Order: sequence, then C-alpha cells, then structure tokens
Amino acid sequence: MAVVDLRREGELAVILVDHPPVNAQNNAVRAGLLDAFRKAAADNAVKGIVFTCAGRTFIAGSDLAEFGKVAQSPETPEVIAAIEKAGKPTVAVLFGTPMGGGLELALACHFRIAAPGTKAALPEIKHGLIPGAGGTQRLPRLVGLEKAAAMILSGDPIGAQDALAAGLVDEIFEGDPVQAGVAFLRRALADKRPATLARERDDKLAAVKGDLKKAEELIAAQVKRGRGGPRAPGKAVQALRDALELPIDKALERERAAFLELVETPESSALRHVFFAEREATRLPDVPAEAKTHEVKRVAVIGAGTMGGGIAMCFANVGIPVTVIEASPEALKKGLATIEKNYRISAARGGLTEADVEKRMGLLTGVADVAAVADADLIIEAVFEDMQLKLDLFGRLDKLAKTDAILASNTSYLDLDVIARATSRPESVVGMHFFSPANVMRLLETVRGAKTATGVLATALSVGRKIGKVPVVVGVCPGFVGNRMLRLRGIEVERLLLEGCLPQEVDGALMQFGFPMGPLAVSDMGGLDIGYRSRKASGLKAPIADQLCEMGRLGQKTGSGYYIYEQGSRTPKPDEEVERIILKTAHDMGVKRRPFTHQEIQERLLFPMINEGARILEERIARCAGDIDVIWVHGYGFPAWRGGPMFYASDTGLPYLCERLTEFAAQTGDERHKPSPLLRKLAGEGKRFE
Ligand SMILES: NC(=O)c1ccc[n+]([C@@H]2O[C@H](COP(=O)([O-])OP(=O)(O)OC[C@H]3O[C@@H](n4cnc5c(N)ncnc54)[C@H](O)[C@@H]3O)[C@@H](O)[C@H]2O)c1
Repeated sequence: MAVVDLRREGELAVILVDHPPVNAQNNAVRAGLLDAFRKAAADNAVKGIVFTCAGRTFIAGSDLAEFGKVAQSPETPEVIAAIEKAGKPTVAVLFGTPMGGGLELALACHFRIAAPGTKAALPEIKHGLIPGAGGTQRLPRLVGLEKAAAMILSGDPIGAQDALAAGLVDEIFEGDPVQAGVAFLRRALADKRPATLARERDDKLAAVKGDLKKAEELIAAQVKRGRGGPRAPGKAVQALRDALELPIDKALERERAAFLELVETPESSALRHVFFAEREATRLPDVPAEAKTHEVKRVAVIGAGTMGGGIAMCFANVGIPVTVIEASPEALKKGLATIEKNYRISAARGGLTEADVEKRMGLLTGVADVAAVADADLIIEAVFEDMQLKLDLFGRLDKLAKTDAILASNTSYLDLDVIARATSRPESVVGMHFFSPANVMRLLETVRGAKTATGVLATALSVGRKIGKVPVVVGVCPGFVGNRMLRLRGIEVERLLLEGCLPQEVDGALMQFGFPMGPLAVSDMGGLDIGYRSRKASGLKAPIADQLCEMGRLGQKTGSGYYIYEQGSRTPKPDEEVERIILKTAHDMGVKRRPFTHQEIQERLLFPMINEGARILEERIARCAGDIDVIWVHGYGFPAWRGGPMFYASDTGLPYLCERLTEFAAQTGDERHKPSPLLRKLAGEGKRFE
C-alpha cells in the first residue's frame, strides 16, 4: 500500500499519510506528499485540501536513521514549497505528537486544527540541530517571537490548549481527524475565511521589529543551559534574528545551511546516539515486550530517608498509592514531613498546585510496622546500607509479602544475589537503584540478579518508565555500573589534589568539559561523611578527604568541605585553608607538585573510568556501551552532547586512550590504569565501543 493516499471528499481533496508506527517522515513519505499536493493543486475540481495521517499521530518527526546519510530528493523544503504553491486553502489536522519536520509541514498550511491531547514540538535542539525546513521562520510569524524562541530553544512540546492560545492552531476538534478537517475546511470556505500563509504574515512580529534590543533579550532569555551542545543554540538564536531582519526566502536559505552544517557536527551525532541508546536500553532480547508483567497497583517503600522519601514521591506523582514504612513513629513523621516540604517547595515555585500537593500527600500512607507490606504489589527497600539489616528485612518480607509481590532493593553497593538468598523466592528479587534526589534524577539502574525472573525484570522496567525514569538493566557487582566507574574517578581526584591541583581547578576542568558541576562540589553537596564512613569500613584511605572530615568539614551541611559556603549559601568558594591542607599533605608525603592543564585533568579523571567501563562490558555487567552512556548522561551529569563516556572515548580515539592509560599506569603505579583487554583489542582493530 502507498504510504500517502490522495482521495476526494466531494469538492475537497484528502491527503492521508499512513506510515506506521508514528508516520515518521522518510523519502517515500516526502515523495508521496509531493505527488499528492501537486495532483490536488492541478485538479480544478478541488477547492481545498485536508492534510492528515492515519494511525495514532500526525507525522512525529523525521526518521532519525536517515540523518547523516546522503540526502535523497525530494527534501522537506521542496514538499513545503508544493504545499504553499497549491493555491487553495489547506488545513493540517494534528493529533498525537506532531514533531520536527512533521510540524514544519503543517506550518506551511493555511490552517491547523488539533485534537485535545496533541503535543507539538520542534525538538531539533535536543539532537544538536535547529529546524531545517522553515520552522524557525514560520513559527515566529504564527505565535510571535517569544513563544517561538521558547519552543525552538527548549525543544519541549506544547499542549493543544497552549497551541490554540498562541495561535499555532486555529481550533481544537473532537472525533475523527479526516471528518474534522473536512468540516473545518467547508466552514472556512463557506465563511470566506481569509487563508493566509505563515510566510505572508507580519502581524505578530511587527512590534518586536521596532525594538531589536528587546527582541534580542526575549530570545536570549529562552536559551536553556546545557541543551543542544556548543553550536546549535547559537544557530537557533541567529535564525530567530533573521526572522526579524531578513526577507523570508533569504532567511530560509540561511536556516537550511545552518541545519546542514549542524547535522555534520560531532555533538549532533553524539546526541542522536544517546537518543537511540535510551530507546534501546529497555529492549532486551530475552525479555520480549509482551513478557508477562505484574500489575502494580500499590507500592510499599521501606525507609523514608533521603532515598525512600524521593522514591515514594515518584509513585505518588503518577497516582500510585504508596505505603511508607519506617522503623519508628518519629522517623516516619520526619520522613513524611520532608516529603511534604519538598512538595510545598515545588508548589511555591509554581510547579504544582495546592490541590496537587494534597492529592499526592493523600496517596501516601505512613506506617511504622513492616507488616504493612502485605497488600503491596511492589516493595522497594531503602533502609541503611547495611547487609545484615537488609538480610533480616528480606527474610521478614519473604513471610509477609503477597506471593506474587516484587521485592526490590535500592542498595548502591551490596550484593543483590546475597540479599535474594535471604528469601525463599530469589526470582522475585530485583534491584531498583535510584539516584539522588530520587524524585528528580531520571536514571534507574535496574539490577538483574542471578535468579531474577523475566516477568519481574520486565515489570521493574515498565514501572520505571511509568514513573518517568530511564531504566537501564545492569548485572550484579559492587557499585553496579555507575558507581563502580565513579569510584575510579574519585581515586583520581584525590591523586590530582596531591600531585598539583586545587579543588577549583579539578572542578573547572570538568565543567569546561560540560559537566554541570565539578566532582568536588558534588561531594560537598552530598556530604563527605558518606565516603569517609565507607573508607573506614573497608580500611581505605584518602589523606585529604579524611582530614577534611576529621576537621568536621563535611560539605555544604556544615558550611565547609572542599570549599567554604558563606552564611548558608550553596555557592562554593575556594578556601585558603583547604589549599594549606593540600600543600602540607603533599609535602609530608613527599609528593612533588606540578601544574596540570585542563586537558590533562580531564584525561586523568575520565580515561580510567572509561577503562573500567570496558571491563564492565567484558564481564557483561552492562549489555552494551550505549547502556553505560545512558547511565552516565542521566545519573551523573555527563554532557549528552558528548554522547556519554564510551561514545566520547570512541570519538577521541581508542588507541590514544590506550597510550595515555599506559602512561598513567606508569606515573601512578596503579595497575588498574593499564588498558583493559577489550580496550586494547578494539583499539588494535580500529573499532569503536558501539
Ligand atoms: N543517598 C544516596 O545518594 C543513595 C543513592 C542511591 C542509593 N542509595 C541507597 O539507598 C538506601 C538508603 O539510603 P539513604 O541515603 O536514603 O539513607 P538514609 O539514612 O537517609 O535513610 C534510611 C532510612 O531507613 C530507615 N530504616 C532503617 N532501618 C529500618 C527498618 N528496619 N525499617 C524501616 N525503616 C528503616 C531509617 O530510619 C532511615 O530513615 C541505601 O541502601 C543506600 O545505599 C543511596
């Protein structure tokens, strides 16, 4: 069957795209559309054209797999030209998720109508691109500069009501898209409603054109930190400026040139890699999509501390009732109060209404008795990181939980298989490793134990997606994937402080790389005592960090750590006292300090943990390099535009990594820095990690 169908409804032509699952634009769709619009235009009996799709959504963007390949004609601008030249009123009927090139086609029509649940976006910036088929020129003419800048620079979707208010769509319709489009166009023709193309309009831009300085400010205010990589935001800003200053055809030419330039950038291919890797992360060959999942109607969270509170919020946020269980009524009261405080903060910032807060708090039932797990379908343990405590608890859960309940642990380092053996049903045990703050961070390491049943794993993944997380399956080892790699970075941070760096230099180098915060500022935020306690327990030493803790410098909560925090401020300020401690410790240990460049700091911190990532792949703790990339982008602030650590390593060149790691091993005497067999093999074969 043809992917684009042209048929007649009386005096109107109906052009229908049918390209499941999401009507993604590809060459066949574009060729079909070009042909259909030309035929409808040439047919004198046709008085107007309805343009819509079959299935569950209007064209949800371009087929990303086509990017970076040689373009085949026709390209989207050619189809758009045919729509604009049709010479008769055209309506695009939107529903589902019209995105990117799909929305750009709709912008070329005279009218747009949308179903109530429609979410429309120009998401190109998220792939390190800008719209390349007129989006930056037609959208501002329809919705005004500020709204267009917000959509183009964030890439985030807007809902139907918002689109109506902004002028992106002319009406909201109920019912069948084709019938609604036909009815709308008949009315428009009968009413002789003026049919104006976006390119001919100036009403929304006229005012800002008079004050270009103000226009610049409007645009600049919409730039989102960290989104789109180093180049795309600037190009988007320029395109929006062009919309004000240049004739549209000239501006369209420049937009297209900028788009084609961005498609070739490494950051755009990195962002597309992360996009695909995220999608692939939950597709497991041995866990078919139809694997029988358990229904999760009620959740129990045990422990309402830092993690448990945030985890409970994740479920309440999507309307799932949660039993919050604590060891004592006092701890319970404190935990629930913290949750409520967090909700009130969101409400004060405008993210939630008071009614939302009440509703969500209403879904939480606090109990100071673990027997309350009896009616839960999913139980998530988030008590102290103490093996004996967890073993006792899982032993009790085994007796108390429903037979088909899922027993999940949020442990960061402990052996999930040992925990599972404390029950008579290890197949029901899975790891759900959230990241702090659990209600914000999107990563969910989903730990598959030796005995975890397929249906249990599939349920953990689907419930993870339901609460808005990005679940990635990992195997059992100390620290799983993310923290195991992080540990190597931590060791190197301490070494760099001794060998010649100050905290602000270490942090500065990684922020220059693209991390939102440096590792030492992050440690100060989380509290230095966590690492100190675990070092004590395992007999490890970190001379500088240990001294800071012994001086009571535990990070932000005590007003000082690696930095000083003045009067409750969260802004880290370099502290001369820390510098003195570092210099003295190096001197006492006989370490000769030397200067480091940003590049050297970045390589010393990142290459060893990438090497550990390669070992993780060898041991099959992670299924593929893309999974590790997703973990680092969503759990540890690794800049998405660098594609995650493994993609970045491949881009940098694996032979270079091997060379540098060999040097680090010689310099530090640390055997773990020697390139892993997998890294050496891929480097030798000239391959990448993917
Ligand atoms: N803090 C993090 O950044 C982080 C991140 C990921 C995972 N984790 C893991 O999550 C778990 C919890 O860590 P946290 O930081 O929330 O600790 P926390 O100390 O903030 O909270 C633990 C809570 O468990 C409660 N508790 C202890 N024993 C209990 C019992 N028998 N029954 C009911 N409640 C009990 C305590 O009263 C306390 O409120 C640990 O396994 C930790 O490794 C922590």
